[in-house]
Formats: sequence, structure tokens, C-alpha cells
Amino acid sequence: MKVFIRTYGCQMNERDSEALAAKLLQAGHTLAASEEEADALLFNTCSVRDAAERKAKGKISHMHKLKKRNPDLIIGVAGCMAQRLGDRLLEELPDVDFVLGTGQLHTVCDILAEIEAERKRIVSTEESFDVLTEMGAHLATGSWHGEIAITRGCNRFCSYCIVPYVRGREISRDKEDILREAREMVGRGVREILLLGQNVAAYGLGGNTNPPEPGNSPFGELIEALNEIPELRRIRFTSPYVSYFNDRLIRALKDSPKCCRNIHLPLQSGSNRILKAMNRQYTRESYLDKVAELRAALPGVTFSTDVIVGFPGEDDDDFKLTRDVMNEVGFEQSFIFKYSPRPGARSAALEDSVPDAIKEERNQILLGDLRDRVRKKLARLVGSTVEVLAEGVSARNAERWVGRTDTNYVVHFPPVPGVRPGDLVKVRIEQSNVVSVVGKIV
Ligand code: 5AD
Ligand code: SF4
Repeated sequence: MKVFIRTYGCQMNERDSEALAAKLLQAGHTLAASEEEADALLFNTCSVRDAAERKAKGKISHMHKLKKRNPDLIIGVAGCMAQRLGDRLLEELPDVDFVLGTGQLHTVCDILAEIEAERKRIVSTEESFDVLTEMGAHLATGSWHGEIAITRGCNRFCSYCIVPYVRGREISRDKEDILREAREMVGRGVREILLLGQNVAAYGLGGNTNPPEPGNSPFGELIEALNEIPELRRIRFTSPYVSYFNDRLIRALKDSPKCCRNIHLPLQSGSNRILKAMNRQYTRESYLDKVAELRAALPGVTFSTDVIVGFPGEDDDDFKLTRDVMNEVGFEQSFIFKYSPRPGARSAALEDSVPDAIKEERNQILLGDLRDRVRKKLARLVGSTVEVLAEGVSARNAERWVGRTDTNYVVHFPPVPGVRPGDLVKVRIEQSNVVSVVGKIV
């Protein structure tokens, strides 16, 4: 069967799609380049925000045209939205043939086979625990970049968040299993590995929601072990919860030069009152302390973050506190989300009190701050020489290659013979733009 996969949402979903593709290929299916030529369409969806669900639903209902033309076309919905809505999706979107919860992705081939035999079927969305090893499958794409999900699910229950309900309890993959997969990836040319998880720093802590004792960080140990893989150049991870950066983890980062000096550290809000209502287990002060500690241990480290504007009850003062923390840390990148109540998450019981116009205004203010800040930071790079992991031809300008510094700055440069994707090159920066810099290999 020719299967077309479309992915919405986070990197975890991107990785799930890769694993889905690998499963399908192993079973003898092929991947379709477009929806039009496919026998089956798989939508791997996200439900973290309302907008993400609406987008996916809109796209899926558009497939009605294709289904009319080809009544044998199979349409499946996987991922968080499938998990959240279950068979309600089948009522809402009548063209959908099956729904696959986040714990059942490994059963995709069986389901396609069954549907071929007997059309229309609903799959239960009960959690399955062998999913982690099953999802160890991946695509041999020959790329310099690889991703490994080291944990699944989340036990933190931030009040706005639906992830603990749709992705289930937090489970960690076996360390040896991860290392085996990493070595195998590196063996086929991968030079940068991104570790994924809702809270990667909780890795190996058995789902305990109290941040680890001093001296204990299985995640730190994992990074140290990955750092020993000779041909691997870079290790990245996303996302860690700030309170899990204890002495042991910080020492591991410090002692692992392959671990990139760029940390995505979700802030969500800079107001202690709002953080409390969000059920986040830190304060603006402890967040800022952790940033200072990380900066001291990892000179030159850069930070990115997630922030929600317009959480119920967020007033001008709360917003100002968030804006101040953001400017104080000076994030190189920030993902700003307008609050949307997610049915099932605890904050959905609160009145969505901030009008959309105010949410949008706050969003624009933070985006404006980010733009100004990034422009200045990039301008400061001009004249310096940086190490860049070459990624390949730039999507925007075919004459140039693109790559990133370990601090995650995007660098464009004219290619030189012999340089291949995944190589580390030294680039002297000559010019800065709004979101990237340009230089020459030295
Ligand atoms: N409304 C707005 N943003 C949300 N996020 C998670 N849930 C919600 C919600 N209900 C954001 C958080 C999280 C990111 C992945 O999505 O900032 O870190
Ligand atoms: Fe959601 Fe909080 Fe878990 Fe992140 S840590 S996935 S925001 S519950």
C-alpha cells in the first residue's frame, strides 16, 4: 500500500511519524509523495492547543474530495488528538476509517491489513507499554540528524496542559536500548542526536514528580554515555523542566563537550502567582537562579523558552513580570502561545478571562522584544569565527549552505568542495540579518 503521512505538532510527533514510516516500510508498504497518489492517508495530530486541532480537522475534512474519487482510500488519524477524542472523531469526521491513540502507533500495519479486509473499525485508545521498544524502529534516511525519544508521557500535570491525559504516564526507555540505537544511528552517518521527551530531565527517575536529590541524575549519566560515542558530534535535548537541573546534571553537561550549549527551558510565566496557578513547581527567582548556575557552568550557553500569554487571571502586572524575566534571561528564541483552554486539563474549569485581543497584544509585545534582541545578538557575532555543523543547501538560497552553531545560531555560507552535511566547519561571520548570519569557511 502507498501511505502518505502528514504530521502536526511537536518534535515528538515528527519522530512518531518517522517510526510509523519505518514500521510501514518494514511491512512492505511504500511512502507516497502526495495525498493524491496514496492508498492510505495517516494524519499524526496534536491537541496541545485548540488551534492545532482545528487545523488538523480542517485538513482531514478536505480529504473528502479524494475519498469521493477513490472510495477505497483509507484515512487514519493518529497522535494526541486521536487519543483525546477517540471514536468521537469518527462521528465528527465521517471519512475517517480508524483512530490510533498515542500508545498504539506500533499496531498501524495490522490495522491497515484488517481494514483492507473489513472496512471501518475503531481501535481502543488504551495505553500499551511495549510502545517504547516498538518505537525504537526508525527510518534509514542517510541524514546527519537523528532523534531518539527517551521518555514518553508526562507526570507533571501543569494545569493548562493536556499532554499527561493524551500521552499518559511518564515512562523512560532502557538506557542500553537508547545507546544501542544511538550507536547504530551514528554508524549510518548521523552526527547530531536530539533527545526527545516531555520532560527529558526526568529520565530514569521512575516517574517521581519530586525533582531528584542532589547527586542523582540518570539523564546526566545518559548524556555522558552518549558523549563517549566517537563519531557523534552533537547532542541536543528538548524539553527539560527547570527544577530537574541539579548539581549532577549540570556537571554532566559541563563534562560533555558534545552536548550543545543551547538549552530550551520552558518558563511559561514570570509571575509567581500565575506559575502557581499553572501548577509549575518553581518561582521566577528559582528559575533565574538556575539560569545563572547554568551560565556559570557553561560559558556562552544560550536559552530558548515556551511562554503562555493570557492564562486565566493574568493581569498587566503578571504580564510585565513575564516580559521582564524574558528580557533578563535574553532568550535567543521563544515560542509564545496564547492560552487556550483544553477540555480535560484542570485550568479548563477556570474562566478564560483574558480577551483574545489582549492575548494577541501581549503576544506581539513579546515577539517584538524577541526580534530586537535577536537582531542585536546576531550583529555582535560579526567578525567572530564560529564552529558550525554543516546541514546542506539552504532552502532560501541555493548558492549557500546552512548550518548551526552549538548555541543554535543559524549560519549561511558558500559551500566549499569536500564539505558534507554533518561536517563541522569553522565560519568567519561577515554579516548579520534578522534571524541568521552569513560568513565564509576559514
Ligand atoms: N494553551 C496555550 N499554550 C499551551 N501550551 C501547552 N498547553 C497550552 C494551552 N492550553 C504550550 C506550553 C508548552 C508548549 C508545548 O505549548 O507553552 O510548553
Ligand atoms: Fe504539559 Fe507540564 Fe508535562 Fe510539559 S511538563 S508536557 S507542560 S504537563
